Amino acid sequence: MAIKERIEDLLEQVEQMSASNADELEALRIKYLSKKGEITTLFNEFREVPADQKRELGQALNALRQKAETSINTMREQFEAQSAKADRLDLTRTPDPIELGTRHPLSLVREEIVDIFSRIGFTVAEGPEVEDDKHVYGLLNFAPEHPARDMQDTFFIEKEPGIQKPTDILLRSHTSSVQTRVMTTQKPPIRVLCPGRVYRNEAISARAHCFFHQVEGLYIDKNVSFADLKEALLYFAKEMFGADTQIRLRPSYFPFTEPSAEMDISCNICGGKGCSFCKGTGWVEILGCGMVDPNVLEACGIDSKVYSGYAFGMGVERIANLKYRVKDLRLFSENDIRFLRQFESC
Ligand code: DAH
Repeated sequence: MAIKERIEDLLEQVEQMSASNADELEALRIKYLSKKGEITTLFNEFREVPADQKRELGQALNALRQKAETSINTMREQFEAQSAKADRLDLTRTPDPIELGTRHPLSLVREEIVDIFSRIGFTVAEGPEVEDDKHVYGLLNFAPEHPARDMQDTFFIEKEPGIQKPTDILLRSHTSSVQTRVMTTQKPPIRVLCPGRVYRNEAISARAHCFFHQVEGLYIDKNVSFADLKEALLYFAKEMFGADTQIRLRPSYFPFTEPSAEMDISCNICGGKGCSFCKGTGWVEILGCGMVDPNVLEACGIDSKVYSGYAFGMGVERIANLKYRVKDLRLFSENDIRFLRQFESC
């Protein structure tokens, strides 16, 4: 074959050159560009080419070598980049630390409340969040027209889409509903603590939310007195907020207790001197309580002549506010990692 055709033939080969790894690439380099390679051989033969063809063939030969070199160099760079990447994958390296979550402040407080009462014999009882009117209001001595049943306070659940009322299925607005679940299914003595989430139809702000958490307590036995209630609550206040904490009970009203009271503790922020948190009074309200109304005992099938009992209910957010000084209720449900991280060591 004349030298010209051999150049054209090689040019075609060089244009279609491909290698799938560095060894194949090196084989190509040897085939075409090494000392005995096909292109180098052509250069040696070029010396014999008659002078009048030297210019044209010389240019074609140079272009061929250039093309082969460029193509081989480009492929080499690609293989080198790939192997550099592979080198960086160090399988012996220790992994990035796994970020540990923290317990939610409301869980911490709920667990602490449960723990304190479990030391004086309370066990945990739970009930459904989607409840019926009977367990949330009816058995608890709420009059049929009681305002708590109003749709402004309670979320009712439509039985059929678009038909709002009448319905007796609702989201429980307090954990007192678990009292009725327990009283209608268990026999005294009963000593339970009922933690759970409750729902109220409130506009969301720093001080109110449409859902929050409560812990309810219920103790029923023979000869349970108001003094027993006071003793249990004083014990709780001291365990939760410190041995210096004082309590005071103010008369109040709840349909399901008689007599009823609200309990304040001496403000644990100013120690009772008066501050903006306790609005200068030295006291902050933390729960409602009272002796279980005989009507409630009877409605739940417990003989009110034989048994008596006390009940109390507190908001978990309120206790958490006092313990951790959280000013805005919304922080508890917004899952802001900057807020939650502050409880890492608790
Ligand atoms: N259920 C009441 C509420 O949600 C709290 C409460 C008050 C519970 C007095 C009680 C109680 O058990 O005796 O506001």
